[in-house]
Amino acid sequence: MVVKTTIRLPFTPEIARAAEPFYRKVAHVVPEIEWPVHAPYVVAINKLKAERNAVILAHNYMTPEIYHCVADVVGDSLHLARIAARTEAKIIVQAGVHFMAETSKLLSPDKTVLIPDATAGCSLAESITAADVRALKAKHPGLPVVSYVNTSAAVKAESDVCCTSANALAVVEDIAREWGVDTVIMTPDEFLAQNTAKKTAVKIIAWKGHCEVHERFTPADIRGFRKADPSVTVLAHPECPPAVVAEADYAGSTAEMQRYIADKHPKRAVLVTECSMSDNIAVDFPDIDFVRPCNLCPHMKKIGLQNILHALETLTVEVRVDADIAARARRSVERMLAVGKTPVAA
Ligand code: 13P
Ligand code: SF4
Repeated sequence: MVVKTTIRLPFTPEIARAAEPFYRKVAHVVPEIEWPVHAPYVVAINKLKAERNAVILAHNYMTPEIYHCVADVVGDSLHLARIAARTEAKIIVQAGVHFMAETSKLLSPDKTVLIPDATAGCSLAESITAADVRALKAKHPGLPVVSYVNTSAAVKAESDVCCTSANALAVVEDIAREWGVDTVIMTPDEFLAQNTAKKTAVKIIAWKGHCEVHERFTPADIRGFRKADPSVTVLAHPECPPAVVAEADYAGSTAEMQRYIADKHPKRAVLVTECSMSDNIAVDFPDIDFVRPCNLCPHMKKIGLQNILHALETLTVEVRVDADIAARARRSVERMLAVGKTPVAA
């Protein structure tokens, strides 16, 4: 469903004044010429979300005017899921893709969960169906299925536990121990499965889904960054192919990359992941030089200030999950949240 957006709002002197503190925050990464377009939405969204008792949960891949100017909580998939489970707000606006909004609905079934564009999907989530998971279980009886949160609720419902890129290792080892097995099935990200398998004695049977953003990076890209500046620090997301992760200095979820940057404070860094990550971190670390290889996620980029405002105005598009699927999917997500918070590090 394509969402109609509010028509462009005017940039008045009053709006300019009200939005000024936000602009000071993002001036480093948002061109001045763009600000008159964003500012009226920033002001309107902040006003309306307070009136509606809404919270905006924004993924690290949102653009800086969303991430730094209207979001209440920002983070990786794991952090956003944890917050969704305990927010007091009446309405959750998910500034991210559809599977993230579904996860929020599973964990907060009594809240209104809105996604500003219901077509914001994910190549991983689309690579596997509930029937595929049932077929895998029939082929490998007695083995648990670990599914990445980047899946539909129907796939989560057929799985034994979920994971994110931040806790994949801990979840795989935990479920193997609990089931008393040496092998688990992991869906749908083949590369996350292979990157996780390198760190554990547990054997992993992987599905062949890929992230269309991360699968495009190559080891030659990394060698190119190092050739241009041998002192550059390279961080890669574990959705990248193992050969790319092997060339990186560190691999971790989007939040883990952020923590690494804060802890190590390299002079120059390259984040081998979606474009907006570097922009968002650069706001907090203006003295670090970010080399920006740009692979956009077309799904994440469907979310903008205009459709966030439209979602708050119209309370659409509301995310709903069939009750039976939700009950089973919730078990997989809650089981994940109960597992230790051990991060996956390269
Ligand atoms: P994170 O859990 O690291 O935020 O990743 C989610 C995602 O979709 C990355 O492509
Ligand atoms: Fe899915 Fe990749 Fe986009 Fe993340 S970056 S939402 S994994 S397509």
